[in-house]
Amino acid sequence: MRVLGIETSCDETGVAVYCGDNGLLAQVVHSQAQLHSKYGGVVPELASRDHVRNLLPQVQLVLEQARLTPHALDGIAYTGGPGLVGALMVGATFGRSLAWTLGVPALAVHHMEGHLLAPMLELNQPTFPFLALLVSGGHTQLIEVTKIGHYKLLGESLDDAAGEAFDKTAKLLGLAYPGGPKLASLALSGDPKRFCFPRPMLDRPGLQFSFSGLKTFALNTVLAHTPLDDQTKADIARAFEDAMVETLVTKCQRAINLTNLKTLVLAGGVSANQHLRLAMEKMAIQEHGQVYYPRPHLCTDNGAMIAYAGYQRLRAGQQDPLAIRVHARWDMTKLPAITQSDSDVKIWKT
Ligand code: KG4
Ligand code: ZN
Repeated sequence: MRVLGIETSCDETGVAVYCGDNGLLAQVVHSQAQLHSKYGGVVPELASRDHVRNLLPQVQLVLEQARLTPHALDGIAYTGGPGLVGALMVGATFGRSLAWTLGVPALAVHHMEGHLLAPMLELNQPTFPFLALLVSGGHTQLIEVTKIGHYKLLGESLDDAAGEAFDKTAKLLGLAYPGGPKLASLALSGDPKRFCFPRPMLDRPGLQFSFSGLKTFALNTVLAHTPLDDQTKADIARAFEDAMVETLVTKCQRAINLTNLKTLVLAGGVSANQHLRLAMEKMAIQEHGQVYYPRPHLCTDNGAMIAYAGYQRLRAGQQDPLAIRVHARWDMTKLPAITQSDSDVKIWKT
């Protein structure tokens, strides 16, 4: 079964084809980062218009790369939410209409389920059940995953998401949107001993997160040292990243101890962070557990994760009616379950 995946929930137009027998056949991602950078964040209307401009050429390109005609597709999966409604509508309208034209099933995929399953696109796949830390620009969630579609929310951010806190702190340091990866590069030359940022919510039991205080602490540190020299910027970046990483790692360690699940999946844009990956691996060794994450370009938004999640659900017989529906907010724990066994999950080429 070959599934075309379309991702347009925010500022990346991602398209890919996933094949049940041969894995990921092709994928392309068009980033709008440059378009939005002068505004310091995503402008929803510009995002929608850019998806309109780029989606069809990206689909044509991906089919060319996969050496397929549209008629070789067996299903179409598009991101149905959560995300920007206008941006989601572009992918959903295109995907649903193309599926109707081709006479194949279509399915709206949950963006965070796409992230959560992205490590399955690697040769070394986690096996169910596992814990998943989803850290993106819009979400920070700890989930207990029994199988595809069996999700229990263990904790989430009460305010800013981890990626949002990275981006806002980066902006304070004068870094262009999206600042997360730029802050991480800057932190490499920072002195870890100069500033000590708070580790939010670690003094309380439980698995909830809160990052707005960390961002305010960064603001106050910036104000106290303005005008900022380059070394101070790097030192602040390092202190922020250390605090974020330690907080995420400690909560994951708590979740491992509470659930006794030793397999941990990291996914979402922030899971591309090298410092986070290394710290998580170190903790997992202590806990006799294992950490899985996708390669960096499958951590951030892409069509491959939507094609893969769509493939799993379409082949289980799920599909959407002709109505085109998107959801700005969408509770992942309410998704229908899939009853296929772990062994059905195919290992595929990369
Ligand atoms: O998953 P994603 O691509 O989009 C959403 O679904 O939101 O995540 C984007 C977020 C942004 O906040 C970006 O700054 C952050 O992921 N990010 C990083 C890194 N790469 C991306 N944050 C820290 N370090 C990175 N290397
Ligand atoms: Zn995302």
